[in-house]
Amino acid sequence: MNSEVVLILDFGGQYKELIARRVRECGVYSVIKPYKTSLEEIRKINPIGMILTGGPNSVYAPESPLCSKELFSMGIPVLGICYGMQLMNYLLGGTVNPCEKSEYGRIPVTIDRPSVLFEGLSPEQVALMSHTDQVSVLPEGFESLAHTATCPNAAVANPAKGLYGFQFHPEVENTVHGMEMLKNFLFGVCHARGDYTMDDYIDTQVAAVREKVGKDKVLLALSGGVDSSVCAALLSKAIPNQLVCIFVDHGFMRKNEGDEIERIFTKKDVEFVRVNAADRFLEKLRGVSEPEQKRKIIGKEFVEVFQEQAKRFSDVKYLAQGTIYPDVIESGTDSSATIKSHHNVGGLPKNMDFKGLVEPLNGLFKDEVRRVGKMLGLPNYLINRQPFPGPGLAIRIIGELTREKLDLLREADAIVREEIGKSRSKVNQYFAVLTNVRSVGVMGDDRTYDYTVALRAVTTNDFMTCEYAKLPHSLLSKIASRITNEVKGVNRVVYDITSKPPATIEWE
Ligand code: XMP
Repeated sequence: MNSEVVLILDFGGQYKELIARRVRECGVYSVIKPYKTSLEEIRKINPIGMILTGGPNSVYAPESPLCSKELFSMGIPVLGICYGMQLMNYLLGGTVNPCEKSEYGRIPVTIDRPSVLFEGLSPEQVALMSHTDQVSVLPEGFESLAHTATCPNAAVANPAKGLYGFQFHPEVENTVHGMEMLKNFLFGVCHARGDYTMDDYIDTQVAAVREKVGKDKVLLALSGGVDSSVCAALLSKAIPNQLVCIFVDHGFMRKNEGDEIERIFTKKDVEFVRVNAADRFLEKLRGVSEPEQKRKIIGKEFVEVFQEQAKRFSDVKYLAQGTIYPDVIESGTDSSATIKSHHNVGGLPKNMDFKGLVEPLNGLFKDEVRRVGKMLGLPNYLINRQPFPGPGLAIRIIGELTREKLDLLREADAIVREEIGKSRSKVNQYFAVLTNVRSVGVMGDDRTYDYTVALRAVTTNDFMTCEYAKLPHSLLSKIASRITNEVKGVNRVVYDITSKPPATIEWE
């Protein structure tokens, strides 16, 4: 779709997504492909440059991921990072050995030779190193550009062939001028134009969707989360009056959320159907307190409600999904071929008969999805929404669900989000949990026997691990005081101070 693309070949490095995002931040579109990608496919992609990522292996170990040596004589500039640099050197006849002493962390790097990579930078740099191997002998035609106390070849180049390498990681913040180095590669070596913008992305997708679906109708399961909402907004621009959005309201949304979604999307040129299915879900969940069982029942019921509604639109030919680029990378397959089972609550039915899938966001990272949403006029509170599990508040109420408990949690959660939101504390996800514990309290002269609400607030980069947020005591006190005063049925508030692992972010 983009005339100018940088190809990132993945050798198993943990920073591949970060590299791809950094390249896009420079205004250059990037795609990540597995290291095994054939030369033929690479030619088809026709990149202006390639970046080989780091990885946990040793290039000389058996079964390490290798690429073809011909990759380096395609006339396309290559930047190898860490393992990627070692591999390039190794395949072209250099020597890679274990380091005498591994280098980890922020390390001073001295630039020894002027190079386009270090244009505009002073000779003393700080960079993130993380390696146990290093290049000891360079292949013919290569020169060393920089060194550290223990690494003689911290950056290398064969300018005549357009081949460059960093032993360190320019993509991370710990490499102070890493972005300038990446820019130097993109603009100084690959001669990028840097004209990739979200405007272009929207225009291209609008055109592509129009071409794909023609006059046919498209169905979208709108959950109200960031991805499906932005997907709906983009499709309503591309194919107004051909989009049907089904919003299954299971009754486990946060305070006012369902109404907000309805308000936003009924204003657009789409057919918006809100199914208020709370009674059905609660009925199915009666007497159920085991978390996995709750999730399964909710997932199954969601599919049933969605299918019942979808039947009413027999003229619909395409199914739209808010799949985003990290989902595509993770699944490692051509995402258009399968309907992701984990995308919406419980996954959509595989047996639904559609001509095809429409996934207009599947080239975007989350921050780009948010930017697109903003450009399409969605309100900030919707775009910057925290992650919210598909089963919603149902898995934040420990034990059996009731309408009363849901109402109570909704109020407590609204207070938590309001207070932490306006405190500007550094916290990535925060919410209230209704525990199944009741305890004795005192209100005025009366004894109470009411529920305990737990606060959960965490800091995390990837939601795979987290630390509990070190919120100020004054903020915690204010939240506790507001909840116990304003939410009838709660007389105690506790703060969850566990990290993940061993706990998870959600309680169920
Ligand atoms: P856990 O509880 O596993 O959560 O530490 C990690 C992140 O994932 C979110 N989460 C979900 N998101 N469907 C989702 O779309 C789910 O079923 C689900 N369960 C947990 C959770 O809020 C946290 O951000």
